[in-house]
Amino acid sequence: MSYRQARHDVPLIYEAFSDDVIYNIKINEYLPENIIREKRPNIPRLCERDLVKHFTTLSQMNFGVDSGFYPLGSCTMKYNPKINDEMASLPGSAMIHPHQPDSQVQGTLQIMYELQEMLAHITGMKAVSLQPAAGAHGEFTGMLIARAYHESRGEKRDQVVLPDTSHGTNPASAAMAGYDIITIPSKNGIVDLDALAAAVSERTAAFMLTNPNTLGIFESDAAEIARIVHDAGGLLYYDGANFNAIMGKTSPGKMGFDIVHLNLHKTFSTPHGGGGPGAGPVGVVEKLAEFLPVPMVAKDGERYFLDYDLKKSIGKVHGFHGNWGVLIRAYAYILAQGGDGLTEVTERAVLNSNYLRSRVEKFLEVPYPGLRKHEFVASGAKLREKGIRTLDVAKRLIDHGFHPPTIYFPLIVDEAIMIEPTETESKSTLDAFADALERVVNEPAEVLHDAPTTASVRRLNETDAAKNLILSYRDYVEFKKK
Ligand SMILES: Cc1ncc(COP(=O)(O)O)c(C=O)c1O
Repeated sequence: MSYRQARHDVPLIYEAFSDDVIYNIKINEYLPENIIREKRPNIPRLCERDLVKHFTTLSQMNFGVDSGFYPLGSCTMKYNPKINDEMASLPGSAMIHPHQPDSQVQGTLQIMYELQEMLAHITGMKAVSLQPAAGAHGEFTGMLIARAYHESRGEKRDQVVLPDTSHGTNPASAAMAGYDIITIPSKNGIVDLDALAAAVSERTAAFMLTNPNTLGIFESDAAEIARIVHDAGGLLYYDGANFNAIMGKTSPGKMGFDIVHLNLHKTFSTPHGGGGPGAGPVGVVEKLAEFLPVPMVAKDGERYFLDYDLKKSIGKVHGFHGNWGVLIRAYAYILAQGGDGLTEVTERAVLNSNYLRSRVEKFLEVPYPGLRKHEFVASGAKLREKGIRTLDVAKRLIDHGFHPPTIYFPLIVDEAIMIEPTETESKSTLDAFADALERVVNEPAEVLHDAPTTASVRRLNETDAAKNLILSYRDYVEFKKK
C-alpha cells in the first residue's frame, strides 16, 4: 500500500491570533456586576471558520483507529461503534450534573446500577464500583481494599507478590498503596508455581496476576495459583484489563480470584491510548463488598440512589461517581453485543492474534511456544546483526501506513515487538500488515534508519521528548526562543 500523511504548516492555535476578527462582546445587563470579567479571557481569537479549519487540518496529520490499523500491544486500539459515542452525546446523558439530586437522574442511576450488575456478572464477582478512572486507578483501589480487609482482621500484611510478566502498573499501584513488592520469575512464560509457593507467607497481602499476561499467554494454572495464595492468607487480584481475551469463556470469579479491575477503555468501546478519560471499574467477591468505595449505586424497590452507607468503605476514590461518558459507552456496547456477542468478540480477538502470530513467526522470532490469547510478542533481537533495532522497524512501518506496535515492552523479551490486532480487523488487513512487516525486516538498515519519511513528522528525538517535556503552548513559545 502506498501511504503518505498530510503535512501542513499549522501554527499553534495561540499563535494564530487574527485581529481582523471583530469582537462584539455584549455584556448581559442582567449579570451581577461582581461576576463580570474585567479582562478578556486568554483564549485564542479565532472565528468559527478558522477554528474548524485548524482542527480539521490537524486531524489530517494524525493517525487513529478510524483511519488505519493500530496494533499497539496492550492497548486494544480497536474500532468502536459510533452509536456508543452518540449515546454518550445525548443531551440527557451529556448535560447532567453530578450535583443533581437522585430524583432528577433516575435514568442515569439505573444505567449505572445495571452496568454494575452486568460487569459483576461478566467478571464473576459479587459487586462492582464504577468509580476508578483508569486501569492503574482500579489496581490502586483494589490494593486499598486488600489493606482495609486485612486490617479489619487485625492482620499486618505488608507484601504484594507478582510475576515478572505482570503489567508495569501492577507493582507501581501496589507500591503506591504502601506495599513492598516481591517479583517472582516466570517459567516458560507463565507463573512458576514453585517460586510462588516460596514467595508467599504470612506477610503476603495479595498476589496480582495479569491474565493473559503481557506475553499474551493465558495463565492456565490460575486455579492452583489461587489455592497457593489463599492457603497463605493472601488475596487474589486479577488484572482484567485484557478482557477481550477471556470474556464469555471464563471469569476471574471462576478462577477463584477476589478482586478484579477492567479497562472499559480497552475492551468496552472507548479507545485506550487516545489520551482521553478512561474507566477502571473494580469488582470484588462477597467478603470484600463492604470495603468498596462509596457511593455505590443501589436500588430500593423502583428507586435508584447513591448509597453512602458502607460501614467499612475505603471512602471515595474519584471526585464524583466515575467517568460517565466512558460508562455509558460500555453500557451501550454490552447491550448491543449481548452475551453471545461478547463471547464472539473474544473468539475473534484470539483468532486474529494467533493468525497474525502464525504469519509473523515465519520471519521474526516469537519466543515461547504455544497459542496466545489476544496479543503476542515477537523479538527483533536477531536484526541487531544487520544494525537494525526494533525502534527502526516500528518507524518504518509508519511509511507503510501502519501504526507501530508497542515496542520494548514487556521487558522480559529482548527487542520486544508487542502486537495486538484486536477483534475488529479483517483477514485482509492482517495479511497486509504481515506483508509490510516482512518487507520492512528485509529492507536495508539505511532505509529503516531514515524512517519515517512519509509521515507528517520525521523521527523524533525520543529521549529529548521524554526528558524535556513541553506541556503547554507557553512552554513551546519559550522553547522556540532558545
Ligand atoms: C494489562 C494492563 N493492566 C493495566 C493497565 C493500565 O491501565 P491504564 O492505562 O488505564 O492505567 C493496562 C493498560 O494498557 C494494561 O494493558
